[in-house]
Amino acid sequence: MTPVNHAVSSPRVVNIEDLRVLAQRRLPKPVFDYLDGGAEAEFTLTENCRAFRDVFFRPRGAVGIVDCDLKTRVLGHELSFPAMLAPVGYSRLMHPGGEVAAARAAGLAGTGYILSTISGHKLEDVKAASRGPVWYQLYLLGGREAAEGALDRARRAGFSALVITVDTPVAGMRERDPRNGMKELLGPSLLAKIPYVPNILAHPGWLASFLLDGGVPKLENIVRPGKGSMELIDVATALSQAVVTWEDLRWIRGVWSGPIVVKGLLTGDDARRAADEGAAAVVVSNHGGRQLDSVSPSLRALPEVITAVNGQVEVLMDGGVRRGSDIVKAICLGARAVLIGRAYAYGLAAAGQSGVTRAIEILRCDVERTLRLLGCPSIRDLDRSYISSRNGWRSSKDTTCEEPSDTT
Ligand SMILES: Cc1cc2nc3c(=O)[nH]c(=O)nc-3n(C[C@H](O)[C@H](O)[C@H](O)COP(=O)(O)O)c2cc1C
Repeated sequence: MTPVNHAVSSPRVVNIEDLRVLAQRRLPKPVFDYLDGGAEAEFTLTENCRAFRDVFFRPRGAVGIVDCDLKTRVLGHELSFPAMLAPVGYSRLMHPGGEVAAARAAGLAGTGYILSTISGHKLEDVKAASRGPVWYQLYLLGGREAAEGALDRARRAGFSALVITVDTPVAGMRERDPRNGMKELLGPSLLAKIPYVPNILAHPGWLASFLLDGGVPKLENIVRPGKGSMELIDVATALSQAVVTWEDLRWIRGVWSGPIVVKGLLTGDDARRAADEGAAAVVVSNHGGRQLDSVSPSLRALPEVITAVNGQVEVLMDGGVRRGSDIVKAICLGARAVLIGRAYAYGLAAAGQSGVTRAIEILRCDVERTLRLLGCPSIRDLDRSYISSRNGWRSSKDTTCEEPSDTT
């Protein structure tokens, strides 16, 4: 069990926003902004969260529920509630426990963790830390040979699915990063770092833990033959080498025999293509508003994808989930489960493993309370009859999701 950490317990931390505030306090600005920010004007980042406000509940009154069943199955794994932890690169910069701490917290909570390629911890250590399902998310940084090595290690370590992220042909323009000197801080020139050092020094708690952890970690799972583990590089450079194409996906199917999840789709056409190419699941996602700005919020893209794949693959979604009621709304719209990104990463940055545990606990309690208030005994029973929406959301199959009288 994770020991109770009073710094993240109630009343100091009651919701995810409270964890965000603690993360902001502990982290230097470049690290916090990397975690918190989005691309360009951050329209999609904002809309991802706001879109949930366009969906209203239609509760059933006078329903007494003795046992509330939050369990769901994703790719054959039973999860204690319908949320998994999304891949979050550079987690070890947020807290030394990084990916290991997050995976351990997920496993203890009975749910799954997805490890990013951009990880400062060895994938074997991450898998060993968790008693739950762990999936590996692949970028082709370092080339195909390095990827083959990582996939072989992941298979031997017991990773049960591979996630291919397809929304990073280049990095989105995350304007906060260049302003904060992210590239300079991770680069080799000491001189170039100087303007950004005062802010780092103003966060002695983070700085001490970073130095005790050995400073900038290596990318332990990108090992190029004859060259060793890759150095950590800034995200813009990393993602410029990260593109995965449909052709790559065919090659990957030849080297990975387990289930493949395609993450980063927003249209029915792409979701059908992923299914035709052999994916077992898709994640409706815009990378948390960090890639192409002004794409639609993930929640809004979800119904189109659900209709298009017609049950052929499992559909997950992520983007903007900050409350358990958000999770319930996504399930009502047809998602099998959601991925949470910043919601747990704020907890990690605030307090390591116990912060992640607290984030999961908050969301889990929210989901259970929401179900009881809805008069719905189980996740399995959620459907569109429990919601209505405004702004004329269209979902081709179902009309109970529409509320024609409200067109604000
Ligand atoms: C700091 C940060 C790093 C991320 N790194 C990755 C990554 O390495 N690979 C990936 O597929 N997605 C990455 N994502 C996207 C998340 O997996 C997920 O799609 C997104 O965070 C969901 O939105 P949310 O943060 O609003 O929950 C990252 C997101 C954040 C916030």
